[in-house]
Amino acid sequence: MQGKRILLIIGGGIAAYKALDLIRRLSERGHAVTPVLTRAASEFVTPLSVATLSGSKVHQDLFDLTQEAEIGHIQLSRSADLIVVAPATADLLARMAQGRADDLASTLLLATDTRVLVAPAMNVRMWDQPATQRNLATLRGDGILFVGPNDGSMACGEYGPGRMAEPLEIVAAVQAAFAQGPLAGRHVLVTSGPTQEPIDPVRYIANRSSGAQGTAIARALLALGARVTFVTGPAEVPPPEGAQVVRVTTAQEMLRAVEAALPADAAIFAAAVADWRVADARTSKMKKVAGALPTLSFAENPDILHTVSHAANRPGLVIGFAAETDDVIANAAAKRRRKGCDWIVANDVSPATGIMGGTENAVTILREEGAETWPRMAKDMVARRLAEAVADALRNPKPQDIVS
Ligand code: C5P
Repeated sequence: MQGKRILLIIGGGIAAYKALDLIRRLSERGHAVTPVLTRAASEFVTPLSVATLSGSKVHQDLFDLTQEAEIGHIQLSRSADLIVVAPATADLLARMAQGRADDLASTLLLATDTRVLVAPAMNVRMWDQPATQRNLATLRGDGILFVGPNDGSMACGEYGPGRMAEPLEIVAAVQAAFAQGPLAGRHVLVTSGPTQEPIDPVRYIANRSSGAQGTAIARALLALGARVTFVTGPAEVPPPEGAQVVRVTTAQEMLRAVEAALPADAAIFAAAVADWRVADARTSKMKKVAGALPTLSFAENPDILHTVSHAANRPGLVIGFAAETDDVIANAAAKRRRKGCDWIVANDVSPATGIMGGTENAVTILREEGAETWPRMAKDMVARRLAEAVADALRNPKPQDIVS
């Protein structure tokens, strides 16, 4: 991708320090960053460090006459290919939602005709406030792009959503904003890898999923221009560069991360989710007792694919996987109905096929209209063909999917 002109508005929150790294990461990729600091932001990072890293003048004041003479704020707001607001504080989001123009940052955001990507950062209570949620809904409706926030521990000592996306995740969202291809402007959610269900602080129940097929699918979707949220359990294979990666451990965390990532145009559930978790996972390590075997009791994990297939904000296209050893087509067809998804990607994983752990796969795609068996091919090729099929389906929705 050619270098783009990015106007970076840095809001006044503790996460502003991450904006310095963001400037570096964007510059490394050939983008030219013009920074704008709000008054509060300059309490957290100095104009000198921002100017040094970006190699650009820092814009701070709406009523800077020298600056107005050189480059008016209207021109500044329009001379960029993308405006990025990071961190976007609750106050800045509220002012954007209201269309205020009472400082340089809000004026630029009101005057622009360029796309805007925001990375919110705030205390978890501020994020959860109905007022903030209303502002977010307004801004989403206005076509503002979002990246994050993530769940995590915060500078204020609390835990939850509100932590600003990491610089590389913001870079991925920037790249996605400029992506070209049949899936440009589309958001696709992919789950991948195994889950781990704790028994006690040191032991867990898991499975052998490497995350290879899910990662290949995410990479193929990115190559077609999609913005990809990649929710992954602890996988062997590293996650794809360019996706927004959400790392989880348990099935319950995976469900929460998936729900937080919606809405999406399509969702592909390639994760091998544990069916059960230990109901009474211990908070301290279980001790070996001579002559006595421990018993574990289990609770059923949420079925993420089933939940999303029946959700109010269900993606237009929901795809599940079925790894079977007998009666592959019949079992997979029954699974498609039971889960409520649109397509099932079925494969025969009986040992004789050599598919499990191998580099090739032979799949059958089951849809409402019927089954289509693809020839045996490399897993990367399966991923590419599936991504192309997703692009086709989103380009030509079935008549019953068109809501007027
Ligand atoms: O029921 P089964 O595990 O065979 O279904 C496989 C499909 O359902 C896969 O797409 C898998 O990612 C998804 N799944 C899920 N949540 C579960 C179990 C399976 O999303 N708890």
